[in-house]
Amino acid sequence: MSLLVTFEGPDGAGKSTQIQLVARRLEANGLSVVKTREPGGTPLGERVRAVLLDPGDCAIVPRAEALLMAAARAQHVADVIMPALSDGRVVLCDRFSDSTLAYQGAGRGLPTENLNMLQAFATDGLQPDLTILLDISAENGLERRRSSGTPMNRLDQDSLAFHERVREWYVQEAKAHPERWVLLEAGRAQDDLADEICQVILDRSGQAAARADANRKSE
Ligand code: TYD
Repeated sequence: MSLLVTFEGPDGAGKSTQIQLVARRLEANGLSVVKTREPGGTPLGERVRAVLLDPGDCAIVPRAEALLMAAARAQHVADVIMPALSDGRVVLCDRFSDSTLAYQGAGRGLPTENLNMLQAFATDGLQPDLTILLDISAENGLERRRSSGTPMNRLDQDSLAFHERVREWYVQEAKAHPERWVLLEAGRAQDDLADEICQVILDRSGQAAARADANRKSE
C-alpha cells in the first residue's frame, strides 16, 4: 500500500540517518521503499538545492527562497513522488512542505496563507500521510551539525533565534495535528528510534495487521 512519509525537524536532528535505518527495516518487512529528499530528489531539484544552500555571496530574499523551494518540490512531486505512490511504494521523504512553513514561514516571517497557496500549487494538493518530527533543541541541533564535520550551509548559518522559531513551529504543529504527526525525541538511541518509526509506518500501512493475520492463520 502506498504511503508518503515525511521526516521533519530542526537542522541536525538526524533525519537522513533515520531514513536509512528505517528504510532497511521496512524492506526487511517486504515493503518497497523510495528514499528521497528536499530540496533535491531530481536533477532540477539538486541544482536548485546547490543554489539555495551555498553560503556564498548570492543574495536570496525570503520570497525567492520560498519560490525556489516550491519549484524544486513541484518537479519532485511530478517526477518522483507521484510515480512511486502510483506504484504502491512507501516514500520516505527527508523534508517536504512543512519545511517551507517552518523555515520560510515561522523562520523568515512570510505569511502562512501565501505559503499554503504556494504549497497547494507546487504539490498539486498532495499531502503527507504521516509526518515524523525528530525533535531537538535548536542549539543542540546546530551543535550536532557543527561537530559532524558536515559543512555549515547557508541556512545552518542563520541565527539561533531563527532556528528556535523553526523548532517552535514544528512542536506546535505536531501537537496540534496528532493524526498526521508523530513527535519523537531525536536524542534517543538511533536503533530504538528507527524501530519505533518503522513500527508506526507498518501500522499505518496496514502491513502489521496483515502480518499478524497471516501468522494467526499459520499457527
Ligand atoms: P540539509 O543540509 O538537507 O539540512 P537537513 O539535513 O537539516 O535537512 O539542508 C536543507 C536546508 O533547507 C535545511 O536548513 C532546511 C531548509 N529548507 C527550507 O528552508 N525550506 C524548505 O522547504 C526545505 C525543503 C528545506
